[in-house]
Amino acid sequence: MRTAIIFSALASIAFAAIPFLNEPDTGFNADVSPTGQLPALDSIKGIPDFEAVARRHMNVSDYSYYRTGAAGEFAYRRSLEIFDQVKLRPRTLVDVTNISLNTTIFGHEFSAPFFIAPAARAGLTHPRAELNLAEAAGAGNILYAPSLGSTKRIEEIAAVAAPGQVMFHQLYVSRNKTKFASDVKRIEAAGFKGIFVTVDNPIHGARTRESRYGWPSTTDSDPKFTWESYQELRNMTSLPVIPKGIQSVEDALLAVKCGAPGIYLSNHGARQLDTSQSPLEIAIEIYENAPEVFKETFVFADGGVRYGTDVLKLLALGVKAVGLGRPFMYSNLFGRQGVEHLIDILKEEIALDAANLGVAELKQLDTRWLNFGRLSAYVYKLDRS
Ligand SMILES: Cc1cc2nc3c(=O)[nH]c(=O)nc-3n(C[C@H](O)[C@H](O)[C@H](O)COP(=O)(O)O)c2cc1C
Repeated sequence: MRTAIIFSALASIAFAAIPFLNEPDTGFNADVSPTGQLPALDSIKGIPDFEAVARRHMNVSDYSYYRTGAAGEFAYRRSLEIFDQVKLRPRTLVDVTNISLNTTIFGHEFSAPFFIAPAARAGLTHPRAELNLAEAAGAGNILYAPSLGSTKRIEEIAAVAAPGQVMFHQLYVSRNKTKFASDVKRIEAAGFKGIFVTVDNPIHGARTRESRYGWPSTTDSDPKFTWESYQELRNMTSLPVIPKGIQSVEDALLAVKCGAPGIYLSNHGARQLDTSQSPLEIAIEIYENAPEVFKETFVFADGGVRYGTDVLKLLALGVKAVGLGRPFMYSNLFGRQGVEHLIDILKEEIALDAANLGVAELKQLDTRWLNFGRLSAYVYKLDRS
């Protein structure tokens, strides 16, 4: 009896110690089995469960590379917390029997408004690395954009595409101009249909957690890359080139002025600049100051998305497709099935959440479904006079 009481006291202390943001307490037990086996995949019911498994199963160096944010990780924590500060305003007595998640991105049809964001080194969780992500994206008909820092080669990833599957590719602008030109050519030749050029990484971030294990950067980014160079890059390829890492209304407007076919709101998973705004805040900043941006160009966004409601909030602000980075990397611990399971969980959550929100069709979503008054108070005000 006494032992049971002591055990239960210890257990509650252990639960109290669970980091709330990454791993909210929804009753999941991610403990490592005595044989070190992963829990059954069907015991994973929510996206944060994958992180709980990863923290216990990956070695600390590899996990730290995926999990790291910049410096004190204030921006990382905020990217997760901020979603709760935007409240949903459900409408009732709406017929929600036929909600479709179908989404068109640059003329290509996908089954959902979310995608697998580019993240380097998928080989840390599974020997098939990005191949699992590409195949799962093909099976689930969602967009995947592999990173230029992938474990597998550009051509290897392209080779596992399902018939008709559309993938984009991420690009870092290398200082080595021969390599840069060759990267662009290889992406196009391999059949990718769009390029996310990363613009929030002129230099590696000050990543305290990652630096404890000596991870080198996967890129030799050219710090001289400017909006003029962006135009030159567009002339090097027939693919749409979308700047990834737009973090202010000014840059969103500049991109529109340059004729960018799309923009990608992101702070690189808060891995570059600590205390930078979360993508949800960036979307609100653009909405408040220049709402026309969401009509004039196609807006992607990522950062801290872990729930169906997170996706719906970004869509309501005008974002058209929402990315997830870390969760997909963690899900690859289970191989392709893990990635497919994550896709299924998120599709189901979005459909259930949209129905409970009283949205008959995702395209109806707009800011009337949101209350973000708490955040409006400190939104940056652009002087457009
Ligand atoms: C392990 C890891 C590697 C990443 N590698 C890249 C990369 O090579 N290129 C890039 O543009 N973004 C990279 N990112 C940023 C993601 O594309 C994305 O912006 C970010 O992960 C979104 O935040 P989330 O992890 O909270 O979903 C990486 C992110 C992670 C977690």
